[in-house]
Amino acid sequence: MLKKKVEDICNRQVEREGYSSNLYLSMASWAENKGLPGIASWLYAQAEEERIHFLKFIRYINERGGNAVIPAFKKPPSEFSGITELFKEVLKHEQFITDSINEIVHVTLQEKDYNTHNFLQWFVTEQVEEEAAVRTILDKINLVGPGNMYIFDRDILGLRAPAAGEAQA
Ligand SMILES: [Fe+2]
Ligand SMILES: [Fe+2]
Repeated sequence: MLKKKVEDICNRQVEREGYSSNLYLSMASWAENKGLPGIASWLYAQAEEERIHFLKFIRYINERGGNAVIPAFKKPPSEFSGITELFKEVLKHEQFITDSINEIVHVTLQEKDYNTHNFLQWFVTEQVEEEAAVRTILDKINLVGPGNMYIFDRDILGLRAPAAGEAQA
């Protein structure tokens, strides 16, 4: 049985992972309308991954006898000032999520909940990969130059596979 404090902070993460998915969807939609199908594809795939994280927390809370709550989400931004700025926002958001996961890890140690602590290890590793992937993207944008998005938009397709079920651009 999950302790209330652990259940509450895991439900907080349900909201944050769901919001992450919507944020990246909004970014994907913006990039798609700017004629950047590669970047849009990367972001759509990222949104799918965040939805999987969202589901992982929901299923875990319920599996341990808690009640996962599906929240209303705040509206993500729909305008971005450029591709560099967009990916800087992605990095900032992932750093926020890393801190958020670490806070849950801290609560599980305080509450001596070693099962949830174990469940979280996948997310701890995932966050290292997520932040590194976005840093790689920012480095590449820096290399090609922000004025050369045509090249970058083509190259980003090689950085990950598109999300399942997504139409190829
Ligand atoms: Fe996530
Ligand atoms: Fe993420």
